Amino acid sequence: MAVTTQQLIQWKQQGRPIVVLTAWDYAISQLLDAAGVDILLVGDSLAMVTLGYPTTLPVTLEEMLHHTKAVRRGVKRALVVCDLPFLSYQESPQQAIHSAGRVLKETGAQAVKLEGGYPKMAQTVAQLTAVGIPVMGHVGLTPQSVHQLGYRQQGKTADEGERILQEAIALYEAGAFAIVLEHIPDDLSMRITGKIPIPTIGIGAGPHCDGQVLVTSDVLGLSDRMPPFAKPYVNLRQVITQAVEEFSREVRERQFPEDVN
Ligand code: KIV
Ligand code: NA
Repeated sequence: MAVTTQQLIQWKQQGRPIVVLTAWDYAISQLLDAAGVDILLVGDSLAMVTLGYPTTLPVTLEEMLHHTKAVRRGVKRALVVCDLPFLSYQESPQQAIHSAGRVLKETGAQAVKLEGGYPKMAQTVAQLTAVGIPVMGHVGLTPQSVHQLGYRQQGKTADEGERILQEAIALYEAGAFAIVLEHIPDDLSMRITGKIPIPTIGIGAGPHCDGQVLVTSDVLGLSDRMPPFAKPYVNLRQVITQAVEEFSREVRERQFPEDVN
C-alpha cells in the first residue's frame, strides 16, 4: 500500500521507525522504493551531490521539478517529498503556494519540505496546508542558511535549544505532517520528539527521533565529502572505479566485445 502522511502519524504512535532517504533520479528511486524505504526526499542536497555545486543555494525550482518528475516515475509505494529550494518560498506565503503548487501539479510528488520555523515559516506552512499542500518542516541546521550558520551543530545552548523546540511546536501547530531535525544534540531531539504528535525525522540528531534520514549518496559511498554523522554502507566509488577500469582494460586489450561471428 502506498505510504500516506496520515500513515506516518500512526507509525509514530505505534513506535514504528520511519525510513527516509534522498533520491534524485529514476534508477535510484526504483531501487529505494522496491527496498521498502518509506519516504523518498528529493532533497536540495542534490545541488551538491548530483549537480556539483558547493552549497544547496544555487539549485532552481525548475531543476527540482525536473529531478522530482524522474523520481516519481520510479516509485510505487514511497511518499515522495520535494524540497523547496532557496528563495522559492521565503518571499511570501503566496510565492510558497505558487512553488509548492507547481511541485504537486507538475511532478506527482505528494508533499514539499521547507526550512525554518517560527514565526515566518509557521505562517507559510499554515497557508500551504490550508490549501491542501502537505508540508514537512526542517529545523536545527538548515543548509540554505549556511552563510549564517555554517554546517555546525545547532541548539547546543539552552536558549538555542528552546528556540528550536518552539520552532518545531509552531510548525506542528501550523499543520506540518513531519519535521526534519538536522544536526542537533540527542537530548534536544528527544525533547522535541516527546512534545509534538507528528513524526520527527532525524539526521545527525541521535537515536530518539521517530525516523531517520540520510543523503543516499553518503549511504552508498558515492559522495566526495561527507558530514560526520553519515554512515556509508557500501563504497560505490570503489565499485564503480573497478568496473570502469575493467571495461577500459578489456576495450584496450580487445577483449570486449567478444567475437561471436
Ligand atoms: O536536502 C536534503 O537532503 C535534506 C535532508 C538531509 C533532510 O534536506
Ligand atoms: Na534539503
